[in-house]
Amino acid sequence: MARKKRTSVHGQWSGRLAFILAATGSAVGLGNIWKFPYITGENGGGAFVLFYLLCVVSIGVPIMMAEVMLGRRGRASPINTMARLAREEHAHPAWRYLGWMGVLAGFLILSYYSVIAGWALAYIFRAMAGEFAAIDAEGASRLFTSLVQDPVDLLAWHTIFMVMTMLVVARGVRSGLERAVSVLMPGLFLILVLLVGYNIAQGDIVHGFHFLFDPDFSKLTPNAMLIAMGHSFFTLSLGMGAIMIYGSYLPDDVSIARTSFMVAGADTLVALLAGLAIFPIVFANGLEPGAGPGLIFQTLPIAFGRMAGGVVIGGLFFIMLVFAAWSSSISLIEPAVAWLVENHGMKRGKACVVSGIATWLVGIGTVLSFNYWSELKLFGKTFFDLLDYLTANIMLPLGGALIAIFAGWVMRRRSALEEMNMGDGAAFELWHFLVRFVAPTAVILVFLSAIGVLG
Ligand code: PHE
Repeated sequence: MARKKRTSVHGQWSGRLAFILAATGSAVGLGNIWKFPYITGENGGGAFVLFYLLCVVSIGVPIMMAEVMLGRRGRASPINTMARLAREEHAHPAWRYLGWMGVLAGFLILSYYSVIAGWALAYIFRAMAGEFAAIDAEGASRLFTSLVQDPVDLLAWHTIFMVMTMLVVARGVRSGLERAVSVLMPGLFLILVLLVGYNIAQGDIVHGFHFLFDPDFSKLTPNAMLIAMGHSFFTLSLGMGAIMIYGSYLPDDVSIARTSFMVAGADTLVALLAGLAIFPIVFANGLEPGAGPGLIFQTLPIAFGRMAGGVVIGGLFFIMLVFAAWSSSISLIEPAVAWLVENHGMKRGKACVVSGIATWLVGIGTVLSFNYWSELKLFGKTFFDLLDYLTANIMLPLGGALIAIFAGWVMRRRSALEEMNMGDGAAFELWHFLVRFVAPTAVILVFLSAIGVLG
């Protein structure tokens, strides 16, 4: 059969492990360590975490399987994958706009993601210069404020991170990053465990634990539910084609179900560990859990500043954080780059320059939103808040729901069964049921309740 011989013009992963590493690299990023703690802090803790976990299991994992499956069958950038599959399944060609929305979402996310990754870059040097020594909560806040109020500094770090990202993407994903991620992800994990250990000894671990795991459902507002659901897409890199394009490089014989579970499991573990590393410090130092995007930058330095070897461990932590962000950022722009190569005959390098400059320019808006434009608000949100809300809470869930609908309703059952390669048993039926009914309905219900239709 011709279809089985299809491969991507951009190449293929060396095997199952390479895909797991790359997909985990994409999933584990700033979302887990920077974003998850602060949105949990802003939305009241336990109930928010529980709802997020529910979304990961019932919507995230099935949609991840669907997205990998579509990617592997289409074997091209999300735009061309959707166009191709729509043709094969005799569906409307407008399905390719789903690919377009993904490319746009990835581009917008990277524009601010890079600015935040720039903060982490700056903090590597602050940690290693010993600036955290014996710092208290107030000092840590001041240190953070001094960074974000300096647009020139922010712009410089943002530029450096964008160049780093484009350099890797230009080379093709495999050789450099695959290898780096396989060392750095375990390293990051170890340091997180160490920080949790430190907190058990020094911080207010009990309070931290209660905050993360004791649900108070009165705090779970419809908007908090939307944010939790949006985050389950964001943290698993779903709904914009990153996982789809990684799936397009996946060899035919690899199990989609098993690998998806592993990626989602690792991602969730890192987020929960990050929470356990951060909240005890928040409570032990009388800090505000709802401090917002600066939360980890205002808490972790306190711990690093007090522990023995904190200069080294703090420096390593932020290095790892940069690597986690790096392996995610390449997947945010890969769909756009692949499309430029496929449809505009560009060389990879040129495609990277074009998409990198465009992303960098939009990122300037985020840089300014923390200083000169901090009072400039649309719908009560700064430029950064607005981009984050629009992409994570609206575009990704919408994209994910449409992916589920395509995989569950538009695609013939026979095609899905063939590509999933998991046998025609209960597991396939369960997945098919989840993508057909549960995932789209859940997304629509959460949207409606957030808009206020369901109050
Ligand atoms: N999953 C990444 C994180 O948690 C962010 C991301 C979103 C990456 C969407 C790719 C696509 O940081």
